[in-house]
Amino acid sequence: MNGPIVESAAIPLARRLEGFPVYPLADVPRIRRELRASGVDVIDLGAGDADLAPPPSVVAALREAAEDPAMSRYPFQLGLPEFREAVAKWMDLRFGVRLEPYRQILPLIGSKEGIAHLALCYVDPGDVTVVPDPGYQPYVGGTLLAGGQPYAMPLKAEDEFLIDVDRIPADIASRTRILYLNYPNNPTAAIAPRAYLEHVVEFCRRNAIVLAWDNAYSEIAFDGYRPPSILEVDGAMDVAVEFHSLSKTYNMTGWRIGWAAGGEDAIAALSRVKSFVDTGQFLAVQVAARAALESWAEWVPGNVAEFQSRRDAMVAAFRAAGFETPLPQATMYVWFPVPAGTDSNSFARRALLEQGVVIMPGAALGPGGEGYLRAALTQPATRLADAARRLGALL
Ligand SMILES: Cc1ncc(COP(=O)(O)O)c(C=O)c1O
Repeated sequence: MNGPIVESAAIPLARRLEGFPVYPLADVPRIRRELRASGVDVIDLGAGDADLAPPPSVVAALREAAEDPAMSRYPFQLGLPEFREAVAKWMDLRFGVRLEPYRQILPLIGSKEGIAHLALCYVDPGDVTVVPDPGYQPYVGGTLLAGGQPYAMPLKAEDEFLIDVDRIPADIASRTRILYLNYPNNPTAAIAPRAYLEHVVEFCRRNAIVLAWDNAYSEIAFDGYRPPSILEVDGAMDVAVEFHSLSKTYNMTGWRIGWAAGGEDAIAALSRVKSFVDTGQFLAVQVAARAALESWAEWVPGNVAEFQSRRDAMVAAFRAAGFETPLPQATMYVWFPVPAGTDSNSFARRALLEQGVVIMPGAALGPGGEGYLRAALTQPATRLADAARRLGALL
């Protein structure tokens, strides 16, 4: 029986969304589309999402796997056993870290997914997590979704962008459940020396804090530098969960595949949370991810060489255009000071609207990022040089 439609009362959103920050670059796809529609040749150096192709063997593996009806079944948290085995083999080969594939590894639908869900395993309302500022925003978002309070620790040039854990106030440390660290670092491109890894493991063991070590950029490193795994450090397995991603290493950002590695209890807790949220990544993608890991020794060096030559081209062009640009040793970002007399949001907005260049304002990654801009190595060298000239015109 259809009566007249009753007027609906306003439906309130949950309070947890009230203080939620806006995700960085959230309005860029819309503005970019409008600019392109009006004929502007937009150069997008915003997100860490390169224009490069994944390994051909990976695409072939996906194509073939997709034909197999067994691949269309639910993956569940177990996922593809061969992917877990390939991860274990790679972690041993790359870092000398031995992991039990079924209890110390968990496939993720992109590392962001696992990073954001980790807080649901350890954070109760009122608990604290320590997050880098500026930093990758899912550390903040995951904490807020769990009802926790992120405590921002600044990343400063004078500290080489390393969080000094000894400066975390004692009353914060005692309430901290997770410390999020990410080296090689987005956005500062900083790297962490081994002694630093040892120190933060010791700090987390002493304070019973989970160390979320985000290693998304472990393979994008230059001039022979090889970033370590936190799990190489003695005692890390009791406190650390390390996140890995195929996104940057293999140009597979859209495929949404990564993994968590760490102690059995943490991996079991994350798997338990995820079992109520997702049912695993498409098995054919896991077949392809295994092929990617198996292509690592042969394929990744060429990809890294491309990023390194883009880095050299970008730094040279940005310096020539008048920017004070350091030479990063890792990641796909150049993090450089905003020109005098302006702030990061104003400069990034002018870059987009007046010059059609998308760059990340440092302040979008936390108040500690003010005073800096981030440009990603996501375009060929000639486009990076063009972007530098256009940005130079704003000085
Ligand atoms: C520091 C950091 N961690 C994790 C990720 C997540 O990558 P994905 O979810 O694609 O694995 C990114 C992506 O930009 C990142 O910058």
